[in-house]
Amino acid sequence: MNIVEIRHLKKYFKDGPQIIKALDGIDLSIEKGKFTAIAGASGSGKTTLLNTIAGLYAPTEGTVMVDGLDLSKLTEEQLTVFRRRKIGFVFQGYNLIPELTIRENIVFPLSLDDSRPDADYLSSLVHLLGLDNYLDARPHMLSGGAQQCTAIARALITKPSIVLADEPTGSFDMKTTQNVAGLLRMTAATFHQTLVVITHNLDLAQLADRVIRLQNGKII
Ligand SMILES: Nc1ncnc2c1ncn2[C@@H]1O[C@H](COP(=O)(O)OP(=O)(O)OP(=O)(O)O)[C@@H](O)[C@H]1O
Ligand SMILES: [Mg+2]
Repeated sequence: MNIVEIRHLKKYFKDGPQIIKALDGIDLSIEKGKFTAIAGASGSGKTTLLNTIAGLYAPTEGTVMVDGLDLSKLTEEQLTVFRRRKIGFVFQGYNLIPELTIRENIVFPLSLDDSRPDADYLSSLVHLLGLDNYLDARPHMLSGGAQQCTAIARALITKPSIVLADEPTGSFDMKTTQNVAGLLRMTAATFHQTLVVITHNLDLAQLADRVIRLQNGKII
């Protein structure tokens, strides 16, 4: 079963008089439960593709189906609920909230939905990601790797069916990269999630079931 079905997708941006073809005819199916890496040079359209799957960008042309939903048919409000319930997003640069503790950061997406954390699930996530001793700390007290693990836990806390990560290991050394990549893979396998990860990093791409390469908005 495919959790993502993209057909003839184009996404153009206007830059003054110029039209930028960020995505220029993408056909892509992603099988449920698989780990897909997206690679490609800077400006090739990777983030645009991820944001389109997350329903953050509306296509200029074409269709994007995620978990059986045609995103173009959803209202803004339905899209917000879709993102909150179905998508776990790991941002480049973590985006943790500095005033909140690690625990509060992790459960933050649930508070948006007025729901409470499943205590067993929270503790298994925290344990898998090695955050047991940091729950009451604030983000600045943690290493970059531990902050990234917090961002991963936050993305997973809602039990999303698909996890999207934009360069989750951006500035890490090889060892941290392998740890974070291994953790993403393990949590995806443990919780039956589909994982789509943008990376320039070959070590990380090697862990994927499949690598998609973008060039000038096209899959090559
Ligand atoms: N919101 C936007 N408005 C205008 N142009 C945009 C916008 N987002 C992306 N672009 C342009 O679309 C193209 C693809 O950008 P995108 O961010 O998807 O590339 P990328 O592969 O993620 O690059 P990087 O590796 O540098 O993050 C680029 O030419 C970029 O300048
Ligand atoms: Mg990008």
